[in-house]
Amino acid sequence: ASAAPTPTPPQMGFNNWNSTHCRDEFNEAMIRGIADKFISLGLRDAGYRYVNIDDCWANWQRDKDGNLQPNPKRFPGGIKALAAYIHQHGLKFGLYSSAGTSTCEPLQENRGFPGGLNHEKQDAATFASWDVDYLKYDNCNNQKVDAKQRYTAMAEALRSTGRPIFYSMCEWGENKPWLWGGKPPVDAGSWRTTGDISDTYASMLKNFKENVVLDQYATPGHWNDPDMLEVGNGGMTDVEYRSHFSLWSIMAAPLLIGTDLRTIKPDALQILLNKEVIAVDQDPLGVQGKQVRDADGIHVIVKPLKDGSRAVVVFNETDTPHDVTVSAAEIGLKTGGSYNVRDLWAHNEVKGDGTLKLQLPVHATAMYRISRI
Ligand code: DGJ
Repeated sequence: ASAAPTPTPPQMGFNNWNSTHCRDEFNEAMIRGIADKFISLGLRDAGYRYVNIDDCWANWQRDKDGNLQPNPKRFPGGIKALAAYIHQHGLKFGLYSSAGTSTCEPLQENRGFPGGLNHEKQDAATFASWDVDYLKYDNCNNQKVDAKQRYTAMAEALRSTGRPIFYSMCEWGENKPWLWGGKPPVDAGSWRTTGDISDTYASMLKNFKENVVLDQYATPGHWNDPDMLEVGNGGMTDVEYRSHFSLWSIMAAPLLIGTDLRTIKPDALQILLNKEVIAVDQDPLGVQGKQVRDADGIHVIVKPLKDGSRAVVVFNETDTPHDVTVSAAEIGLKTGGSYNVRDLWAHNEVKGDGTLKLQLPVHATAMYRISRI
């Protein structure tokens, strides 16, 4: 038996899906440009590591030996060369497939891109030969084969390559993957808990609510995944995007940027680069925040951190501003203590007894790191 892999914090990186879906702009030039931006915009320095590509990278048919091959129009240089380009930037490369007979797209045409079901060994060997570091494994066209069986087959195939490949299960929470996805024999790094996010406040809110109640199932190296980030895509306000990023971070969710970094606006970039919020997501204690209040559209979530401090998010889901008080006891702090209360968006701190009194605008979030003096 090989040693258990070192538990990793939630994965951080980029995936093209939320930005491009299968439009023609999803191609080699784009992905190379994204890798360049990881360096020039300071994203690599902030901890973002994976550059991942989603559905529609593949060609319609396997080659004569049954191997997957890339779409020659989108990726004329091939996947191995693209991975090498990304590795040269000190980054890691992720690829996509589906635990079915074909992937999810295109929805309309009567044909699809080949999926991994019953091809697990061969496809995992292909991924390893291309120096792939990460596999997102989708759930379309699964022929109603048992989910655990399908996801186990690919897990074992990936391990048998001998190359460490991060395994991201994209099963949409259909068969409660939080109960089995993080344990052997699957042992995935993360599992989707929800359907697809879209770039609206309502969609972000829905995925948040479905994911926040699953905190007990996340363990270090095995994370609940409420889907990728929409920050920067234009369908929410900056206040809502700050809520999105704060909520995902306190839930120790994967932070996969889903906007085109070649054209991102400064305000959105600033959200994604908030190192104090990222540190909460990545905290080595590896605990998903717990919701301690869900009443009248006000959510309070508390995440214990390795250094003994606590991160707290207070989120106003409603369409009206609210005055909110959160007691020290509700945060799990000793009453009568003295605390530093650091505001992770304003980047300043005040001393106090741990009680929070705040005015929250519509859809806004306040986020703090509270430590004992
Ligand atoms: C469904 C997944 O949930 C999405 O994240 C995306 O990968 C699409 N499939 C691609 O077809």
